[in-house]
Amino acid sequence: MSNPSLLILPGDGIGPEVMAEVRKIIDWFGARRGVTFDVSEDLVGGCAYDAHGTPLADATMAKAQEVDAVLLGAVGGPKYDNLDFSLKPERGLLRLRKEMDLYANLRPAQCFDALADFSSLKKDVVAGLDIMIVRELTSGVYFGEPRGIFEEGNERVGINTQRYTESEIDRVARSAFELAMRRNKKLCSMEKANVMESGVLWREVVTEVGKDYPEVELSHMYADAGAMQLTRWPKQFDVIVTDNLFGDLLSDLAAMLTGSLGMLPSASLGAPMENGRPKALYEPVHGSAPDIAGQGKANPIACILSFAMALRYSFDMGDDATRVEQAVEKVLADGLRTADLLGEEGRAPVSTSEMGDAIVAALDASL
Ligand code: NAI
Ligand code: MG
Repeated sequence: MSNPSLLILPGDGIGPEVMAEVRKIIDWFGARRGVTFDVSEDLVGGCAYDAHGTPLADATMAKAQEVDAVLLGAVGGPKYDNLDFSLKPERGLLRLRKEMDLYANLRPAQCFDALADFSSLKKDVVAGLDIMIVRELTSGVYFGEPRGIFEEGNERVGINTQRYTESEIDRVARSAFELAMRRNKKLCSMEKANVMESGVLWREVVTEVGKDYPEVELSHMYADAGAMQLTRWPKQFDVIVTDNLFGDLLSDLAAMLTGSLGMLPSASLGAPMENGRPKALYEPVHGSAPDIAGQGKANPIACILSFAMALRYSFDMGDDATRVEQAVEKVLADGLRTADLLGEEGRAPVSTSEMGDAIVAALDASL
């Protein structure tokens, strides 16, 4: 069997800094576990624009379609703020998601015990929290036509369109039900069926798909009520499935339940390829963090946990994924904190590379 292949796109800002720490873990797997990944590296975002005049070159796009998984750092930065919309770094990321047809975005919100005090919510509300938000990623209001800013009479109108087809809802619902089957068989679907026709269809189709998963306990909630329930008592949920826009907001909200953006991984999955693995892009939830870029302050854990998700969902290495997650848990329990994980207490933070090295040491200790 050929080696598992991985395309690494570090991107801009802190992207390359956190990706350097993932590289240490990839090297560790080669040296200590005899698992060699065929790793290639390329440009995305602002750095790709600087090199090629486009945020994602066609050759990079083609490579992304061939590999078993893509791991991306982050894109964007103030330098690119005034670029034409079609050339902005984010368009590179959107093109990857669209052309790989990655319709299911998995975002776990998981509370590591050592960080339960760090949440802005009470400790007993978040301790032990482990939920997964599945956000539809390739359709909805970010893509619907018509869109644009138009003249109407003597004023301008801004227009975006929320549009979902039955098949788009069906496939993301199936991803969510499959995930629920592997977890606690509990799924909550969120929309605004009270005020949006697309939400009425969403609820209907999810209910229909649910007939294929009779073991899964399905519930429905309006997305605004869902936002309230997520902060009131998040442990009532296990898997949540929702559309692109609500998922963007709700997953960011759920993210903050557990503390820092620097801790949050994500996976974006599409249809199965010939080898049975889903098309997949893994990336931390955070952006390029220009305010701390180049200072060795970035927390690499979100990117490292994204690689762990790749091990689990693309490489059938669930035990090794757990091994990486436990190594992270261990260094946190030992008290290591990057700056973003420290509150007012006057403890000294560790650097990006010190955090990476400690996780590698914890992996060594796990053998
Ligand atoms: P951001 O996520 O880059 O930063 C928000 C705050 O969190 C900043 O204070 C930052 O220092 C901190 N932070 C983020 N990741 C961190 C980490 N790993 N360790 C420690 N602290 C961390 O979001 P922001 O500031 O809204 O956007 C900055 C740039 O990133 C923009 O150009 C934006 O378009 C882009 N962006 C890119 C994303 C992506 O590539 N997926 C997602 C979000 C934003
Ligand atoms: Mg967001």
